[in-house]
Amino acid sequence: MTSKDETKNQIVPLHPIERTLLLSLVHEVDISDHETRISLDTLSKNSSLSLDQIRRGIEWLKAKNLLEVSQNEIKSVELGPEGLRAISEGLPERRLVKSLEESGGRADLSSLKNKLGQDEFSVALGRAKKNDWVEVKGSEVTLRQPQASRKEREEEIIEQIGQKKSIHLDELNPQEKEAISSLMKRHKGLLQEIVQKGVSVRLTEEGRIASRSVNKDEIDEITPDVIVSRSWQGKSLRTIDVSSPAPNLYGGRRHPIRMFIDEVKEAFVSLGFEEIEGTMAQSSLWNFDALFVPQQHPTREMQDTFYVSNATADLSKYSSQVEQIKASHERGESTGSLGWRYKWSEEEARRVVLRTHTTAVTIRYLSEHRPSEARVFCVGKVFRNEKPNYKNLPEFYQIEGVTVGPKLNVRNLIYIISKFYSKLGFEKIKFWPTYFPYTEPSLQTMVYLEKKQRWMELGGMGVFRPEVTVPLGVHNPVLAWGLGMDRLVMLRYDIDDIRELFGANLEWLRKAKVL
Ligand code: PHE
Repeated sequence: MTSKDETKNQIVPLHPIERTLLLSLVHEVDISDHETRISLDTLSKNSSLSLDQIRRGIEWLKAKNLLEVSQNEIKSVELGPEGLRAISEGLPERRLVKSLEESGGRADLSSLKNKLGQDEFSVALGRAKKNDWVEVKGSEVTLRQPQASRKEREEEIIEQIGQKKSIHLDELNPQEKEAISSLMKRHKGLLQEIVQKGVSVRLTEEGRIASRSVNKDEIDEITPDVIVSRSWQGKSLRTIDVSSPAPNLYGGRRHPIRMFIDEVKEAFVSLGFEEIEGTMAQSSLWNFDALFVPQQHPTREMQDTFYVSNATADLSKYSSQVEQIKASHERGESTGSLGWRYKWSEEEARRVVLRTHTTAVTIRYLSEHRPSEARVFCVGKVFRNEKPNYKNLPEFYQIEGVTVGPKLNVRNLIYIISKFYSKLGFEKIKFWPTYFPYTEPSLQTMVYLEKKQRWMELGGMGVFRPEVTVPLGVHNPVLAWGLGMDRLVMLRYDIDDIRELFGANLEWLRKAKVL
């Protein structure tokens, strides 16, 4: 046996739909290589499969090369209103015959005309004469027997359609077809033509082999019932092609940003930190003033900060802090500095902003707890009035935190931040001096992008100035940082445009790996 023969005789695994369809096609299709036209409705009726299953089944069989198929139209006829009448009362010529019978086999032309009505009478008489059922002499019509008792082909076909409800034109012999076309010509209401979608089907060589090896007793699905009843014994199981493509199923899942946030939290918790939270709308007091940002500072201006209109914060709860902060801005005082030397306005501090950094959350925490030691972090959204483009959005995430302790210094800060990044898989980072109004020294951190061969800025940090901490009653050094998060997510998922992160790109959301 050659390998070609082997493949020919191999049993093709068939889905139950394919099996049922194949078997019902074998009934319809002449095995000796003829094409058969068949309507999908008929196939559906014969096989008890739904139209949809039939369509799919045909495609599958075609793909397996068991079937050759072409689409076509199948014409059939049904009875129209006149046709239905003909079933109960006969065609007009038959009705004429009946009238004649009633009047003893002969009648006057005008009385028949009266009975049948002018239109019907002329048709009926013409047909009856043509069929040789009647003879007309002068004004008298005589019935001819036995001719008039014989059914005409047109009458037979109408009865046939009446019984079957509809008849495929393809299934008729030439005489029947002729009768149908003559009926169609006679009166529009007699027959109605219906055009349906159908298929021309031809079983291929392989299809014929497959149809012979279809095992009706095959078990499709192993259910508990099949096992308990042992009905599987002596039967074969359906072969399943596990390599055939199946639709992907996408369940609900967390957004990649959410997954990353969890990872960030995990990293800080594992370093001994506790999470703190704060609201997105904050008073200027916590977003700016408590951080020793002077009230005329450019970052407070409208183009950077979203102010919440018609809202003022109630600072009465913080009256002692307000006093201290005011003193620190105006004169420095206990902080050992000269302050900014201007008239500080409480009204300005009451203005509500969408937090421009999460530092508002940590500073409020410090003022409420006045810790001598602490390790806390916060992950949240911040808002800045920036034009959206591939690297900036007006809202983004920050990873914020502080460590408070008696002997802490900037080296500890570098250590903590390096440790944090390495937990997230970013090893090559460096620190660079920079400026913030609230820290001294101030650093920024950068990560090296191997792929792009360049350094990218990640965020700022430093040791809070005494002008910030002393007025709040915190006397130990405070190491603080506020790092960008979105860029880390972009690096992780190899995304170049930040807008993709927040877009509704389902394809990406479904497929983004859990990294
Ligand atoms: N708040 C700064 C920013 O938004 C980051 C920062 C936080 C810097 C804490 C120093 C200390 O960029």
